[in-house]
Amino acid sequence: MRRYSRITGTGSHLPPKRLTNADLVALLAARGIDTSDEWIVERTGIRARHYVDDGVNASDLAFQACRQALAAAGRQASEIDLIIVATSTPDMVFPSTASILQRKLTEAALAEGDTGAAGGAAFDVQAVCSGFIYALTVADALIQAGAAQRALVVGAEVFSRILDFNDRTTCVLFGDGAGAVVLEATEHDGSGPAVLASDIHADGRHTDILCVPGTVSGGQVLGDPLLKMDGQAVFKLAVGLLESAAKNALAKAGKAEADIDWLVPHQANIRIMQSTARKLKMPMDKVIVTVQDHGNTSAASIPLALDHGVRTGQIQPGQTLMLEGVGGGFTWGAVLVRL
Ligand code: UT7
Repeated sequence: MRRYSRITGTGSHLPPKRLTNADLVALLAARGIDTSDEWIVERTGIRARHYVDDGVNASDLAFQACRQALAAAGRQASEIDLIIVATSTPDMVFPSTASILQRKLTEAALAEGDTGAAGGAAFDVQAVCSGFIYALTVADALIQAGAAQRALVVGAEVFSRILDFNDRTTCVLFGDGAGAVVLEATEHDGSGPAVLASDIHADGRHTDILCVPGTVSGGQVLGDPLLKMDGQAVFKLAVGLLESAAKNALAKAGKAEADIDWLVPHQANIRIMQSTARKLKMPMDKVIVTVQDHGNTSAASIPLALDHGVRTGQIQPGQTLMLEGVGGGFTWGAVLVRL
């Protein structure tokens, strides 16, 4: 018998404003920028994405996703002693989006007669599109070590705020959203539900192929606060790194490709997902794909896809899932989970 962490509930939230490729083509045409539904679908698989309205922040999306995840797990906010939010689009420079989320969860819980989540640890993880993989790895380690009992692990992003709508090579790709899981301590002989293994990495030599180079200083934004990406460079790196992370996680867990029931990949580009599936010898009908409806929601994309798979009944209890992602930093990683 040993201590593991396990996922007991999932949730997600998309802001109601939905832009199809046709909406975006019209929006960009008004700026004199040429793109097309055909190009976006053929190169990425994306058909629509969601954007927040003014005044809605990452913590608001995270709050909705967490409420769903708590309900799915049958838990109250007062039972949570750790909140980790993966985001690159935080509400503020500080405090963390996790702290703001904790406040919102607590206020809602108090209104319902629960005591709320105040007092547990809360912090953000910044690993861009790999953020949820990093956050899940950290939460799993804290739970295994006995430092936490029950966590909310969240990916929440408002990438529409950092898009350059004069750059057609990036602005068509990203969207807003949030996904969350409740991760709880459990004890068993290794055959029960658990985070089985994880594998996370970074290579800081590639910081400039995907970045938002601006910062805040002396009351002003210094540098460019909009997203820059060398798409081809990212694409080439992503394919190999995702394969190695997934294979490392399998090796650590003593599992093989054939043991994976579902691949739940970061939703950046259908071609990258197809390539990873091929390398793991998995057919595409074993891959959860939401990129067509969500676009790339960075740290939110994996928990959004996971929740979609659970709620549509595709993913079933007892199944083994490979979650994997890659993003700015350059960061990448994979987590193998038995549900
Ligand atoms: O989430 C973090 C990880 N991020 C990713 O995984 C993104 C990885 N990269 C990609 O997904 C792809 O590289 C993109 C989807 C970003 C681009 O696809 P690509 O097949 O690599 O296209 P490309 O950059 O080679 O561009 C091909 C052509 C270019 O025109 P020329 O030079 O061949 O005349 C671009 O100017 O497509 C043009 N183009 C567009 N045309 C219409 C670029 N963006 C657009 C656009 N509409 N929106």
